[in-house]
This record gives sequence, C-alpha cells and structure tokens, in this order.
Amino acid sequence: MKDIEPIVLTKEELERISAGINEEDLMEFEKHTLNSFIEPLIPIEAKEPGSAWVRVRDKEGNMKEMIDVTSMNWTLSLGFAHPDINYAVYQQMLKLTHVRYNVLTPSRAKLINKLAELAPGKLKGGRVAINNEGGGLANEAAMKLALMTSRGADNFGVFWGAYHGNSLITGCASQPIHAVNRFNYLGHGFFTRMPYPYCYRCLWKHKEGIRGKKDPGCNLECFDLVEGYIKGMASKRFAGIMIEPNQAGGGQIPAPVEFLKKLKDTCEEENVKLIYDECQTCFWRTGKYFTLTERYEKELNIDVSPDMITYTKGLGGGFPLGALVVSPKIKKRFGPSEEHTTFSSNPVLAAAGLAALRVGEESKLGENCEKMGQKITKRLLEMQEEYEVIGDVRGEGLFIGVELVKNKDTREPFTELSEEMVLIAPEHGMYLGESMPILTMRGQILRRNVIKVKPPLIITESDADFILETFEVILKEAINKLK
Ligand SMILES: Cc1ncc(COP(=O)(O)O)c(C=O)c1O
Repeated sequence: MKDIEPIVLTKEELERISAGINEEDLMEFEKHTLNSFIEPLIPIEAKEPGSAWVRVRDKEGNMKEMIDVTSMNWTLSLGFAHPDINYAVYQQMLKLTHVRYNVLTPSRAKLINKLAELAPGKLKGGRVAINNEGGGLANEAAMKLALMTSRGADNFGVFWGAYHGNSLITGCASQPIHAVNRFNYLGHGFFTRMPYPYCYRCLWKHKEGIRGKKDPGCNLECFDLVEGYIKGMASKRFAGIMIEPNQAGGGQIPAPVEFLKKLKDTCEEENVKLIYDECQTCFWRTGKYFTLTERYEKELNIDVSPDMITYTKGLGGGFPLGALVVSPKIKKRFGPSEEHTTFSSNPVLAAAGLAALRVGEESKLGENCEKMGQKITKRLLEMQEEYEVIGDVRGEGLFIGVELVKNKDTREPFTELSEEMVLIAPEHGMYLGESMPILTMRGQILRRNVIKVKPPLIITESDADFILETFEVILKEAINKLK
C-alpha cells in the first residue's frame, strides 16, 4: 500500500485518534454526550481483519475478545475491518473523498450498475438510487417515488411490529417503540397499520404456525383484513404498502410466501406500489440468495417481487450505505434535488459497497451463510426439545430468531429471560441482541422475547460451535437467575 504522508499533523497524533482511549477522555465524554445510553465495552480493533471477533476495552481498562452475534446492528456481514473493503476504500480515499450530489464518480456508476444486475425478479435491470445513510433514507426515497407515481393517493399501509427507520417519517411508519414513539404524531395521518402475519401468535388462533410456516388449516384470514384496508377500509387511498418480508426488529417473523403472493397480486390490481424493506434480509443474510425475494423466486418458483426494494446493513461492507431498487416498469425518475443530501454521492461509500458486493459474490458468502445457518438452526432446534423456554426457532441462513416463552402451551412471552441473556452475554465473550420492544398504546411492554442469532456471514465452523456452546451457557445461567 502506498503510504499517506500527512502535511499538518504528525502521523503519531493521527494514529492516536483511533488507537485507544484514556480515563480522562471518557470522563469528559460522559459530561458532553447528548446520548444517554452508551454501552460500557469499547471496541478498539478487529481480532483479525475480516473476522467475527473484535477486541474491546472494558470498564476497568482491560482488553478482551468478543464474538459479535449482532454483526454490529446486523451490518458487518463481512466481519470487522475486512481487508478487501479497506483496500478499495483506501484506493478511493487516495483519489477523492467527496463530491456534490449530481456529480458522478466511477465508483457510484459501477455500484448502481451492479445493484441493477443483482436485483431479483421483475426488478432486474431496474433503476437504483443510493444514499449515504442507510435504510431510513432508502425507505423515504421509496415513499417519495410511490407518491410521485400515485395520482393523488397519499397514504401508506404498514404493519404491526414493523421497523423502517428512525427519521421522523420512517419512525411513524414503524411500530411505536420507546425511543421513537414520542414523535409519532408528526406523521400519523399518513400511515395505516395493519396486522402482520405472525403465525406463532396468530390473531385468528391457528396454533400450528411454527418455524415461520403458516398453519396448514389457515386460510390467510389476516390477508382478508389487509385486502379490506387496501380496497377501502382504510380512511385514505394507499400510494404504497411497505413490508419487511421477514420482520426483523419485530421478532424475526417471516411472512408466509402465500401472504406475500396475495399482497403482490392485490397491490397490482389496485395500483398500489408494493415496497419490500429488505434492509436486513439483503446481502445474502438469509443464505444462498442475495434477497428473500430471489429465494422465493428461485427456490419456490413463486414470483413475489415488489415494485421497489430497499437495502442497507451489509450492503456497505461496514460503511453507511442505503439503496432503493425500482422495477423497470416505473418510468419516473427523481428530479434534480428531489432525492439528495449533501453526502449522498460519497465515492468512498460507493467503493466500499461495490467491493462488498464483489467479495460476497467471489467468496460465495451466501453459501457459507446457508451452511452455518443450517448448523446453528439444527442445534437450536435440539435445544428447543430440551428447554421449555424455547417456543420457536425460525429464519433462513444467519437470520435466526429464538422466541422465548414462559410456557410452550400458553406461549406467554418471556421478555425478562431474553433481556437477561443479552445482559450477561458479554461476560461470556459474546455480543447478543434481542427483538425490539413491542409496546401497548399505553407504553407497556407486550413482548421483547426473541433472541436474534445474526453473526457475520463469514463465521467459521469453530465460531458457530462457540456461539452455540455460549448460547446454551447463557441460557442456563439466565434461567437460573430468574428462578
Ligand atoms: C428492516 C429495517 N428497515 C430499515 C431500517 C433503518 O435503517 P437505518 O437505521 O440505516 O436508517 C432498519 C434498521 O435497523 C431495519 O432493520
């Protein structure tokens, strides 16, 4: 690598910025940070470039190693500090780090072309917009385009338990959670919330909807209700419907493919734009295929492809990047500043994104994800037999949810257990995450009882063994603590 020669500051000073932190810096930070919740462990460096392990500094100033089963907000699909991403970023940084929104750079053009090529089903070869932020902005871009093509309809159908972002509008499109619901009144008039097909907790009391498959006796009664909303039960006409085909934050809940098919058909009939939020499920997170849409198309031979899909998380190889991919049948494009932010065209992010996609393709990332996902799911299903508290294990690839219950018959959510597990996991060298809190309108927690097993997709067999062994140790310890 060509070395960079700083011209104002010394190399030593510049290196110290990321090398570590002392008590004094921490005390000052505590006084000045506006965010009230910061985790005590401070990640300093990847254990090795491109691994699922990271070295962290604990409260006492000691260093320890952790495996990250959260991929740092489900993002580091290629692990920490992947060398290929870093190399592409470094090369881009040597040349240019920023341009204005309407200025084209090579990395942006190539990234957009690649995303159009990777788009599933009827979106293949369609149009793409990227942003420098992630999923929230991508979802907002999708909503803007739906409004631009809707001939006056200005409402959106969204789902119970959804999470689409934390901006003022995507927060309104999402299930109210403690962090964002205080702002929801701003966009209330624009969203109609509908029941999501949560088969394990079917509102129509079908009991056999487990592992993300619908009960064989179910007639998709939940869809009848959604159809009713689309066809006039909602107080306003929908410009679009936004749905996570496998609801992530809400509890790792796959919508049955039959539901998605009916939704697609009805949206087509009624000229409502169907938007899939695949922010989490893209980038081979669910296994062999780049998106869930592609999985359904290629594996089940069912075309459930929507009009628009949004991506983020693994897409930027650890850098902030979001994308909207639109079916070629939508002819409208954004005008000069309809979809811009100051940093939207950042070439460094685009270089990282393109490198991440090429690494994913070249290293057969999806196949490793599928294999490791099967291994982990198999053992979790055995644990389900052994432990009364594991009610359901569901998901594809390394997009796994373990639903914890107080009793397998009543399915009463065991929120305290998942919270305890997440709390003690770091003591055992593991970052672990849980579903977001689903609240009642009065702010009480209905459930937050799904443990997410979503490590980087590059994990090895021995990482998977470590995750499974540690998961069981933590599970037992948390059960004993709560007795
Ligand atoms: C399904 C889904 N959509 C959208 C978002 C929002 O993405 P961002 O936080 O990058 O705005 C998230 C973030 O967790 C997500 O999980």
